[in-house]
Amino acid sequence: MIGYILLTILVLVAAPFLWWYWLLAKYKSLDAVPGPKPVPIMGNAKDMGSCTVKTAFGTSINAQQKGNPKYVAAISKFLEIFTLRFFSGWMGNPFLFRFSKLYPEYKENLKTLHDFTKNVIKNRRTAREKSKINPNSSEDGIKIKAALLDMLLDASDNGMDLSDEDIRAEVDTFMFEGHDTASTAIGFTFLALAENIKYQNKVYEELVEILGPDSNEGVTVSQLNDLKYLDLVIKEAMRVYSPVPLIGRSLDNDCVLDGIKIPKDTTVNIFLYGMNRNPNIFPNPDLFDPERFLPENQSTRHNFAYIPFSAGPRNCIGQKFAVLELKTIIAKVLRKFEVLPLPNFKPEIGMCSVLKSRNGIVMQLKRRN
Ligand code: HEM
Repeated sequence: MIGYILLTILVLVAAPFLWWYWLLAKYKSLDAVPGPKPVPIMGNAKDMGSCTVKTAFGTSINAQQKGNPKYVAAISKFLEIFTLRFFSGWMGNPFLFRFSKLYPEYKENLKTLHDFTKNVIKNRRTAREKSKINPNSSEDGIKIKAALLDMLLDASDNGMDLSDEDIRAEVDTFMFEGHDTASTAIGFTFLALAENIKYQNKVYEELVEILGPDSNEGVTVSQLNDLKYLDLVIKEAMRVYSPVPLIGRSLDNDCVLDGIKIPKDTTVNIFLYGMNRNPNIFPNPDLFDPERFLPENQSTRHNFAYIPFSAGPRNCIGQKFAVLELKTIIAKVLRKFEVLPLPNFKPEIGMCSVLKSRNGIVMQLKRRN
């Protein structure tokens, strides 16, 4: 009897550690997976991060030209640790996490991220004070509508109770929410287009019709908004490959779900990736079919049946910007190239804060005549 009790205690004590080592081994193996390298335009956080920083903060991290390896590496490491904590039983607890081997690395990366953001704010403030720049233009003189950072600094200068720390928190939220999500969405949309040439051809036809045959001609926001078929394709790509697979909420009130009472203050995770593959809502869910999102087909579904940008008061405030980013890049590439599948390539789907493919996202580009 005592033997059984001791054995049970041993198993209970050892289980979290074994789980943790299993996760660590799995997580390390993400980097180690051999395989082809992705085409550089896909899933590259730097590209979209740079785009978001410049648009929202009127400054540039020059990720694509010079590279900002320290910041980019820190954000990716931070998100890996964040995801591990999310799935680990004990590391989610801030107190226990301090005893984890990952804690020093976590702190160091967090500091890099905070230092970067503080510098962005400091430089912008100094430049504004010296009147070197017009707050409504970016540092290279391109006029943009008041960048988010300028709006925050204006508010703080005009007496609103907004400390530099508050501003940093807003800037960080934008960086975190805006860079990996959009790059993931774009990478997987290209993959879906490569896997479904029929729909890619329809997108191309629409691009030629709306943007004209000259692939070097610039595009306007109004033209991007007219790309209706591309809208359907992006929606379907984000259904099959949900860029944000999971969101969390803390319950303000008791709630009953499928007859089960869930008490107030419980943290509930909503598995968007699973919702998007519910055969009752999306019949034949593995099939890529943009026409599911035609207005007549969409009207049969509940408004919250498909929520890639979440819903309610904390939904994605960057969604319109994100769709414009996606359309711009897709148009830019598809006007010049066909994207073709790489034989035998299958993405190994995983999650690291956003949806990831462990073996990259790989395809071939064929220049159009
Ligand atoms: C395809 C690209 C994107 C997807 C799929 C996406 C998805 C999401 C989702 C699901 C949330 C809600 C998270 C939650 O409920 O816990 C969210 C929040 C947010 N997103 Fe996005 N996002 C994208 C791009 C962007 C971009 C480009 C920006 C900024 C320029 C951005 C800024 C934000 C912000 C600031 C929040 C937090 C809103 C709040 O907490 O009130 N997102 N996003």
